[in-house]
Amino acid sequence: MESQRGDGGSVDLDGTSLETLAPEPLLTRDYEVRPALVYERLRQQHGPVAPVDLLGVPAWLVLGYRESLQVLQDDEGWPKGLENWRARTEGRVPSDWPLWPSLEVNHILIQGGPGYRPLRTAWDVALKPFQDPRHPQAKRLKAAVTAYADELITLVGQGGATGVADLSAQFSRPLPLMVASHLLGFPGSQGDDALMDMWRVLDAGPDAEAALERLLATLAELAALKLEKPGDDFPSYLLAAHPDLSLDQLARELFMLLGMTSDHVGILISNTVVEVISGEGSVRASLSAGMVRESMNRVVMRKPPLVNFVPRFAARDTPLGNYTIRAGDPVWVSPGAAHADPLFADHVASGTTISTRAHLSWGAGPRQCPARELASAVAAAGVGRLFERFDHLDLALPADQLPWRSSPFMRGLRSLPVRYELASVPPPRPWADAPAPGVAEEILPDPAARQRSSLWRYLTGLIRGGR
Ligand code: HEM
Repeated sequence: MESQRGDGGSVDLDGTSLETLAPEPLLTRDYEVRPALVYERLRQQHGPVAPVDLLGVPAWLVLGYRESLQVLQDDEGWPKGLENWRARTEGRVPSDWPLWPSLEVNHILIQGGPGYRPLRTAWDVALKPFQDPRHPQAKRLKAAVTAYADELITLVGQGGATGVADLSAQFSRPLPLMVASHLLGFPGSQGDDALMDMWRVLDAGPDAEAALERLLATLAELAALKLEKPGDDFPSYLLAAHPDLSLDQLARELFMLLGMTSDHVGILISNTVVEVISGEGSVRASLSAGMVRESMNRVVMRKPPLVNFVPRFAARDTPLGNYTIRAGDPVWVSPGAAHADPLFADHVASGTTISTRAHLSWGAGPRQCPARELASAVAAAGVGRLFERFDHLDLALPADQLPWRSSPFMRGLRSLPVRYELASVPPPRPWADAPAPGVAEEILPDPAARQRSSLWRYLTGLIRGGR
């Protein structure tokens, strides 16, 4: 069988298959520390598409910018859906493969097939009120982010007006979790307890499996509640847009929202904070809302929260890069690698005021992120408030020594130690564009209930621990 080379030549690949190439493991210590070097080595060795071993299972990793677009823009040629995976159908993927739990909760991000289109349409409809800046829900959301950010910053301040804090654990991670609880319409602070299970799932520790079960059960209860008594929240909007969804399906979609919001938005906030603190003085000096968005675009391009996308599968034998991908082979598009492809990197002018939006950090083609505006608005409001409430924020470690955590899908800061000085006079809350007076009281849960919640006890523990 013949395949096209990226340079216009061709290689005869008769008889080869992904399995017989005996690919090297991707997720090594090297990858954890310096993924860029691993991507470059693979690119040198194989060109824009490389065979890799993902925790014992072979897959293709797409490193080229052009090849990534080719896959992402052709949903018919490269569909999602585990039912398209040949090795899985043939029983060649071990049942204890560590990535099953992430891929088998069959929600919109993973799914292919005829159920996908109506589900995507419903997601677009249900997200719209939160993403249209003129809509009262979008205004409420912005007010909520500011109110939650204030709660968290005030809690940090209980450790002293100046001090050291871990802004990842004490701000970037909990803030989106509180936002997710708001979007899901959890009554009061009831969501706090359940949502801490999301961290256990994301951290993939020994209690992750039990946490996932509890979380799905809680989300199924929430789904039932919203079916009986709809509110102004995402689950109710999704049900209205897709009345055929079963409660179990709805719970899985809510799980997806929770994961994306709490993990990826948290990573984006931390990375943007680092960019603002360690970037040029001008970035910090002109932290107008527009400038936060521009910093965030640079950050999301240089450090995509999703470094590798969940798999797609070749619908038929198809040449890609220097290889022919067999029908049913899994293909992982890697924006982390594609952004370093000279074809892309050489055309990103670092000196320009406005950075390119042609990057892949929000995906591309029909399956790109439907919540880009929501995620950016939440992160921008959170970061904006942070820099209003602190007079000084400095990294407590050199930027190149900050600790990272990686999974096959994401890469984010493990912690973000900073030295801070709170503003002596807290700035007023920007309620001017809030939907109504008294919005904070309406949005924030009863303070006594908040303090009893496990999230709050955890956060308070971080202060007492003097971190
Ligand atoms: C910084 C935060 C976020 C980033 C960087 C991000 C990025 C992405 C990317 C790259 C994809 C495409 C993946 C692929 O092609 O396989 C995607 C899909 C998706 N994202 Fe986001 N996302 C973020 C936040 C969110 C949030 C907060 C939500 C929900 C409220 C969300 C909902 C979705 C959904 C539903 C899809 C699947 C779309 C489909 O398959 O049609 N994302 N996201």
